[in-house]
Amino acid sequence: MINRTSYLTRSFDVPEGYLLAAYERSGGYRSAQRALGMPREIIVDQVKKAHLRGRGGAGFDCGVKWSFMPKDDARPHYLVVNADEGEPGTFKDRAIMEKNPHAVIEGALIAAHAMGAHTVYIYVRDELHMAKARLEAAIAEARALGYVGERPFGRPWAIQVFVHSGAGAYICGEETALLNSLEGRRGEPRLKPPFPAQCGAFGDPTTVNNLETIAIIPTVIELGGDAFSRLSALHDFNDGGVRLFGVSGHVQRPGLYECAVGLTLRELIYDLGGGVLGDRKLLAVIPGGSSCPVLRADEMVHVLGDPRFAPYDGKSVLDLPLGVDTLRTIGGMLGTCCAIVLSDAADPVLALATLMHFYRHESCGQCTPCREGCGWIERILDKLVAGRASMEELDRLTEIASDITGNTICAFGDGAAQPVLSFVRKFRREFEDYVLTGGRSQTRTLVA
Ligand SMILES: Cc1cc2nc3c(=O)[nH]c(=O)nc-3n(C[C@H](O)[C@H](O)[C@H](O)COP(=O)(O)O)c2cc1C
Repeated sequence: MINRTSYLTRSFDVPEGYLLAAYERSGGYRSAQRALGMPREIIVDQVKKAHLRGRGGAGFDCGVKWSFMPKDDARPHYLVVNADEGEPGTFKDRAIMEKNPHAVIEGALIAAHAMGAHTVYIYVRDELHMAKARLEAAIAEARALGYVGERPFGRPWAIQVFVHSGAGAYICGEETALLNSLEGRRGEPRLKPPFPAQCGAFGDPTTVNNLETIAIIPTVIELGGDAFSRLSALHDFNDGGVRLFGVSGHVQRPGLYECAVGLTLRELIYDLGGGVLGDRKLLAVIPGGSSCPVLRADEMVHVLGDPRFAPYDGKSVLDLPLGVDTLRTIGGMLGTCCAIVLSDAADPVLALATLMHFYRHESCGQCTPCREGCGWIERILDKLVAGRASMEELDRLTEIASDITGNTICAFGDGAAQPVLSFVRKFRREFEDYVLTGGRSQTRTLVA
């Protein structure tokens, strides 16, 4: 049974639900008021108990990340909220900013207090004009009531919150490229270590969190960490709470659905998404943004060793609960939890070629394997689509993608390689068909 919830989304359908008055009517800012009176360690402990996995893509435990921030360090501390949201198919942070901006501010107040930060930067991709306007207006409202500023809720602690516009480069979503961009430098990832908690914004201790991660923090405080975690069907996998599930592409009802963690792809696509567009058959799903390996609809789960997976072994991948570790265990990735659906009217070769235009364009060019490799992959795919590529070149796609993997400063390289490795392996027949017949036996196109 689907466990739909409305913690983050309760104001989504309320007229003017983005205003402070509506937010407070539904209990808004009570968590901040409470948390600001709590010792910092208690808040971090609650967030650890919540098993809140970062919603930005990598799924790192949020409470553990907060605990990396130095405690007895006189330098300024920063919280940076990542709302760059450039991952293809991902549109959840934008919805939160537009429809529930006060949850972001309240979450940021609590997080900043827990980590000893005095400044919060919300880094928003420039073209999200409505999102930025709503955030700016919400900050002004909160400042006018004294929730943001010199003494929030009368507490002897000052906090400032700023919206910072990014210029719309996908790489600036990567946390260290984002920090460079925030400082006015070229948006190129930094070598790690040092990690941002030691040397982040302006060389000072910094935590970068995804916007959805921060916006759900008031709920964690409201319910308590343990109760929040237990909302999830994957509580035993240390993957707690609720999150936004997005679905787009070839479905009847694309959109965002807030549910307990552990929803299955079948529930997302057929029950919430209304099924495949045009009553076609499901061909494949990219579970969470385009950087995740594609899953075929006819794929089965095969997991050995971990008894927690026994109930899913041998079942369709569509029935595996969506979680950070469940997908990792089958060689996949949950990513941003915004699925892209491909019906059997879609041509996987064209789909991959389209994606690789994006990655070639967005590579920052700092690392040779990524800069050159994405260009080579794009050129081979262009030749393949034009019916001029050889079998040897088809194999070279996999070689190049394997050589990018693990050989770059940041995870962009792996994110660009994963679609190539998974599409070519899982749709080998379709790719070979382009070599053998120039794609003439293909009846599919990119759109259903
Ligand atoms: C190329 C690339 C783009 C990224 N884009 C985003 C993004 O738009 N938003 C985001 O929150 N995280 C993005 N990330 C992940 C961030 O580096 C970082 O892990 C995340 O903001 C941490 O937040 P979380 O722990 O709350 O998930 C990206 C990573 C890479 C490698």
